[in-house]
Amino acid sequence: MFESKDKKGLLPVGFIGLGKYLPEKVLTNHDLERMVDTSDEWIATRTGIKERRVVSNGMVTSDLGARASEAAIARAGLRPEEVDLIVVATITPDMPFPATSCLIQEKLGAKRAACFDVSAACSGFIHALTIAKQFIAAGTYKNALVVGAETLSTIVDWKDRNTCVLFGDGAGAAVMAPVSEGGILSTYLGSDGGYGELLMIPGGGARFPASEKTIREGLHYMRMNGGEVFKLAVRAMTESVERIVRENGFTMDQITCLIPHQANVRIIEAMAERLGYPLSKIYLNLNRYGNMSSASTVTALCEAVEEGRVKRGDLVVLVAVGGGLVWGSCLVRW
Ligand code: UT7
Repeated sequence: MFESKDKKGLLPVGFIGLGKYLPEKVLTNHDLERMVDTSDEWIATRTGIKERRVVSNGMVTSDLGARASEAAIARAGLRPEEVDLIVVATITPDMPFPATSCLIQEKLGAKRAACFDVSAACSGFIHALTIAKQFIAAGTYKNALVVGAETLSTIVDWKDRNTCVLFGDGAGAAVMAPVSEGGILSTYLGSDGGYGELLMIPGGGARFPASEKTIREGLHYMRMNGGEVFKLAVRAMTESVERIVRENGFTMDQITCLIPHQANVRIIEAMAERLGYPLSKIYLNLNRYGNMSSASTVTALCEAVEEGRVKRGDLVVLVAVGGGLVWGSCLVRW
């Protein structure tokens, strides 16, 4: 290792391996036309989504997360037993507990790792990488595996056209470690619990434990006030990007690639317009996958690197907003 500590005694931290896993089964907008009163035209023009992936054959979140992790660990040149820490961001854990990170640890054979989950909805990957970064920068752990994995198909009401057309399943993973060049320059997190009811699953927790009544009333399904979330998402993502770029002494024209949460292309277009940033420099994969919550930003980062959209020396911004409300951004020198 050549990296040296900064003035605060912290090590520079970066991504040394990325991976993704998308389930094979594709659900197109035309498939949805046969399930609810919707159209490919409505979904495509209102959201930008054309198709999404959904799990089948009993596959669960930890399976998706483990496959994405295997790819990330291999690209990092590590063996699973060398992983020190596993942080998994998900709102669709395999079960309330044990943590999905422990289930992924077992599937990987990452026997040495400490594991926990993070609940920060669509900003989960940015929240999780922010936590992992502290441990590595302080020298507590040599590396961390950060995963965003979701099976949102298990929490949407497939009879509700307002939500079921928006979401998909998938996973992305990143191995983080000290780096000799570049790395994460800054992270920013924000929250406003006052907006909690705009996007939630009301049932299945301590407030409304699972019962015949919660099932009858559909309280175990995701609920969203789409219009309100839309407006707040544009504001939170725009401000999170502006803030992290400005506070680190950069301007938007120095940012090579912006990788936003992939909920709705109209949210991303509105953010781009407010930032005065060209859409051509924003990485999009929501047309193929829909909104995969915590898996969206990390999968998009992985693909942007695979496709050569992000190269060594580039400045990259990740940004996301999700239920809570929570939001965050991350500035990386690749
Ligand atoms: O992951 C982070 C959180 N999530 C988000 O960021 C999502 C934020 N919200 C959105 O992306 C958008 O608000 C939606 C895509 C959810 C909705 O788009 P919209 O342009 O805000 O539509 P709307 O809710 O105002 O609905 C317009 C119309 C309504 O009909 P009426 O009341 O005008 O007759 C809806 O019932 O479109 C109707 N509609 C649909 N029609 C066909 C809603 N869903 C559908 C559908 N197919 N799937």
